[in-house]
Amino acid sequence: MFNSKIAGIGMYVPEQVVTNNDLLQYMETSDEWIQERTGIKERRYAHRTEETTTTMAVEASRIAIERAGLQPTDIDFIVFATLSPDYYFPGCGVLLQRAMKMKEIGALDVRNQCSGFVYALSVADQFIKTGMYKNILVVGSEKHSFGLDFSTRGRNVSVIFGDGAGAVVLQPTEETGRGILSTHLHSDGESAEILAMYNPGTHANHWTNEPVADFDEAEIGEMFFSHAMVDKAQVFPNMDGQAVFKKAVVKFPEVINESLTANGLTPADINLLVPHQANLRIAQFVQQKLKLRDDQVFNNIQKYGNTTAASIPIALCEAWEAGKVKDGDVVCLAAFGSGFTWASALIKW
Ligand code: ACO
Repeated sequence: MFNSKIAGIGMYVPEQVVTNNDLLQYMETSDEWIQERTGIKERRYAHRTEETTTTMAVEASRIAIERAGLQPTDIDFIVFATLSPDYYFPGCGVLLQRAMKMKEIGALDVRNQCSGFVYALSVADQFIKTGMYKNILVVGSEKHSFGLDFSTRGRNVSVIFGDGAGAVVLQPTEETGRGILSTHLHSDGESAEILAMYNPGTHANHWTNEPVADFDEAEIGEMFFSHAMVDKAQVFPNMDGQAVFKKAVVKFPEVINESLTANGLTPADINLLVPHQANLRIAQFVQQKLKLRDDQVFNNIQKYGNTTAASIPIALCEAWEAGKVKDGDVVCLAAFGSGFTWASALIKW
């Protein structure tokens, strides 16, 4: 059995910078509130019509593939994580395969929101370990700006999120004790609705206590998507921020420690923790809890906001480009988000 190593990494963020003050034209908020509660100063928004979740993924993937010394036609398999796909179906994996003119390879879409990239990495790692594939492209990409409620009603969610993409190429390594040492995946669906986008969907009010649309009066097609859903803002993400925060600060340290324990290591052995960029306050809480120094944790949420499945590969790419990830370093990736799902990956670079 081989371990997998990251042979190439790339990222892409759209050109358009949107500051906290820029958001004032849409909603009642303030730079002070956003920075104090989330650490975010600005984020990037994709071009409305010229950029999609997939086109951003293409840009990040090109760089990752080139840095791995490969061509798109060398890729054996795609794992694509996003919560903001171009289409409800088919997934972005096939659109990426088409756009990059890859061979008729398998393309798998992962729907694990903020944990999506670590889940995707774990799936790809298993395919490398079994010897099934040799060059796997793992992507996280999000175009959040297209699907947020920019009125004051949606401000608790919309100020947090930004657009972007990150990608890595995984390959087998023959060096023992190198590459992805272990991955750890978890879920607890008990609170699925507190960080969720209900519509469009097939739930027909099955899981929610409160009506999400007037289904009794709706025509069958309207149960999936209706004017009522739009009018009641049920087509936008819904979040109980405090509940998410409370669970995140427990599960982040837990899943990081799980990865360390599995490999006989302690927090002191981490050279760089790259947490999902959910909220700077969450990352700082985790840092304190694990007694990590500033140089052991990489954050860039200040510049990009929360880019969900893209946040870890974007942060890892920036850290690597800045020389903060070196050969032999112990790098921990950790995520928590909607589902709830949470996950970690420990890598010996
Ligand atoms: N600007 C100004 N005021 C706001 C804003 C805003 N953008 N959003 C909410 N408020 C107001 C509220 O209306 C409320 O006003 P009130 O006291 O008059 O009722 C007040 O601020 C406090 O609201 P809370 O929701 O209690 O604020 P809190 O301190 O919890 O901060 C936040 C909200 C930032 C969302 C926080 O709960 C948080 O970060 N939670 C974690 C969420 C998270 O990380 N989500 C992403 C991870 S999951 C994923 O990536 C898919």
